[in-house]
Amino acid sequence: VEDVVETDVLVVGSGPAGSSAALFLSTLGVDNIMITKYRWTANTPRAHITNQRAMEIFRDMGIEDQVLADATPHDLCGDTVFCTSIAGEEIGRIKTWGTRPDREADYQLASPCLTVDIPQTYLEPILVRNATTRGTQSRFSTEYLSHVQDEDGVTTTARDRLTGHEYKIRSKFLIGADGARSKVAEDIGLPYEGKMDIAGSMNITFKADISQLVDHRPSVLYWVIQPGSNVGGIGTGLVRMVRPWDEWLIVWGYDINEEPPNLDDEMAKGIVRDLLGMPDLEPEITGYSLWGVNEMYATHLQKGRVFCAGDAIHRHPPSNGLGSNTSVQDSYNLAWKLAAVLRGQADASLLESYSAERAPVAKRIVTRANRSAREFIDIFEALGVVGLDGDEMAKAIEERKANTPEGAAKRAALVKAMDTKNYEFNAHGVELGQFYESNAVVSDGTRPAPTADEDLYYQMSTSPGAHIPHAWVGNNVDKRALMDLAPYSRWTLLTGVTGEAWASAAGKIADELGLPLETVVIGPGHEVTDLYYDWTKLREVEESGAVLVRPDKHVAWRSMSLPEDPESALRSALTQVLGRA
Ligand code: FDA
Repeated sequence: VEDVVETDVLVVGSGPAGSSAALFLSTLGVDNIMITKYRWTANTPRAHITNQRAMEIFRDMGIEDQVLADATPHDLCGDTVFCTSIAGEEIGRIKTWGTRPDREADYQLASPCLTVDIPQTYLEPILVRNATTRGTQSRFSTEYLSHVQDEDGVTTTARDRLTGHEYKIRSKFLIGADGARSKVAEDIGLPYEGKMDIAGSMNITFKADISQLVDHRPSVLYWVIQPGSNVGGIGTGLVRMVRPWDEWLIVWGYDINEEPPNLDDEMAKGIVRDLLGMPDLEPEITGYSLWGVNEMYATHLQKGRVFCAGDAIHRHPPSNGLGSNTSVQDSYNLAWKLAAVLRGQADASLLESYSAERAPVAKRIVTRANRSAREFIDIFEALGVVGLDGDEMAKAIEERKANTPEGAAKRAALVKAMDTKNYEFNAHGVELGQFYESNAVVSDGTRPAPTADEDLYYQMSTSPGAHIPHAWVGNNVDKRALMDLAPYSRWTLLTGVTGEAWASAAGKIADELGLPLETVVIGPGHEVTDLYYDWTKLREVEESGAVLVRPDKHVAWRSMSLPEDPESALRSALTQVLGRA
C-alpha cells in the first residue's frame, strides 16, 4: 500500500508565514497540514517588531491578548539611542515606532493596536498552538522534498526525519513558507530580482542585566558607532533587547569579501564588552551565528496550485522591522482566497490576485529595508568618520564637541542625519499603506491621496484596494474598532442609515452566491453608531453609499451613494471580484 495522506492545503514551514497561514486556514475551518523541518519552532529570537497591521491580524484571530502577554509593551520600545557604546557617550536619540507624541497620534488614529516587540521564539509558539488547537495537523521534524502538481491537486513527498520514512501528502493547494532558502520556490522556478549575501553579519545572543544603563531610556534598539561598526552588517553595530533588560542580541558586521570570522565564545564576549563599553563584564553567551544581508524579492509568487509566502519571496535586513510582519500579512492575503476557492465561492482566477497584490509589497519592503541600512552612512558622514578606523575614528567622533567651525558643522550635519532615520523607525506609510490593484478589487480609478511623504505617512482611505480606515464605533456599553465589525470569516458591507436598503440587497446576493456577507449599518438606532463622528469623515462615500470589505479588510468595491438598483450593483461588483462574472 502506498502511503498517501490527504488534506486541502499543505503548508511547508512553521515560521511566521507558515504558522500564521495554518492559523488562518484552521480559523476558517479549512483542513490543513503544516510540516516543518525541525523539531520545534525558531531556536533564536530573530524578528521582534510586530507592527500595527500584524497586531490587527492577531486581534482578528482572537489572539491579541496572548501576543501582548508575551510582548514588551509599546511604551518601552522607543527611546532609541545612538552611542559610542551603551556605557559610553550618546550621539543622539530618536523616538521610534510611533512613540514621539506627534507621531503617536498618527499611529493611534490609524489602528486600534500599537506596535509592540515580541521575539520570534515567543511569537511562533503562540501561532502554532492556536493553529493546532483549531485543527491544523502540525508535523515537526518533517521535511519537504519535492512535489508534482496536476489539474486537481499537488502531491508532495515528505520525509519524517526521525524515522527516515518518506510518504506522500495529496493536497488541493501547497503553500511554500519555507524561508529564505525556499526549496518550494526553487521547485516552481519563481523569478527573483536582486542579490543575496551583499554584506556579512553576525548575531550574538547573551544574558547580562544592564538595567542601570538603559531603563531610564527604554528602547528595543541601541545603535553603536565605534571602530569596526562601519564594516558590513546592517548599517552600524546594534545592541537589541530581547527581554528587558537582561537578554540581548548583538548584530555586528564583517567584511563579506574576506574569510568569515572564526566566531567563538571568546570573540563573542569581546564584541559584547566593546559594544556595551564594559570591559570587565562576564556576559553569558547563549548563541552566535553568521548570516548574510540580502536584497532580493520575487516578482511572481505562485505557479498553478503552489504559492510562496514570507522570506521565500522577500529577503532583506531587519531594518524597519518588516520581516515577520510582512510574512504574516502575505498569508493573511492568501488564506481567505484559498478558502473561498475551496468552498466554491470564488473561481480559481481569484488566486491570481495573490501575486498581483503581494509582489509589489515584497519589492517595496525589500527596497526600503536595504535603503534604511545604507542610510546609516549619513551619520558616518556627519561625524566625518567614513573610511576611518581605530583611534582616528574615535578622534573624529570626539570632534563633534569642539568649539570650532568644524565642530559646529558636525553638530548641524548630525541633526539632519538623525532625521533620515525616521525612514527606518517611523515609516508609517511603509508599515500600513499597502494598496492593492488586482482582479480582486473593482477600482474606481481613485487612490488614497498622496501624503507629503508616502513612506513616512499613512493616508486612510476607502478607495478600492486600500485597507479600511480605523474608527471607533459602538454604543453606550460597547466600544469597538471598525475592523472588529468586518471579521476574517466573512465579507462585510458598511453603510449608513440612509443606506439601509443595502442590507436586503446584500442578503439576497449572499444567498444567491452562497457567500458569507453581512451588512453593518452605522448610525443611531442601529447596532453601532459612529461614536466620535470619525467614520463619517473618513468613509469618503455618502451616508447612503456602501463600502464592500474583503475578509482581509481591504476595500473590494465602493458605491458613493445608494443606486436605484443596489442589488445589481453589488452583484456585479462581487461576481467580478470572485471571478464569477
Ligand atoms: P522562516 O525562516 O521563519 O521559517 C521557515 C520555515 O520553513 C521554518 O519553520 C523551517 O523549519 C521550515 N523549512 C525550511 N525548509 C524546509 C523544508 N525543506 N521542509 C520543511 N520545512 C522547511 N528579521 C527581523 O525583522 N529582525 C531580526 O533581527 C531578524 N533576525 C534574524 C536572524 C536569523 C538568524 C534569521 C534566520 C532571520 C532573522 N530575521 C530577522 C528574519 C525573520 O526571521 C524572517 O523575516 C521571518 O522569520 C520570515 O518568516 P518565514 O516564515 O517566511 O520564514
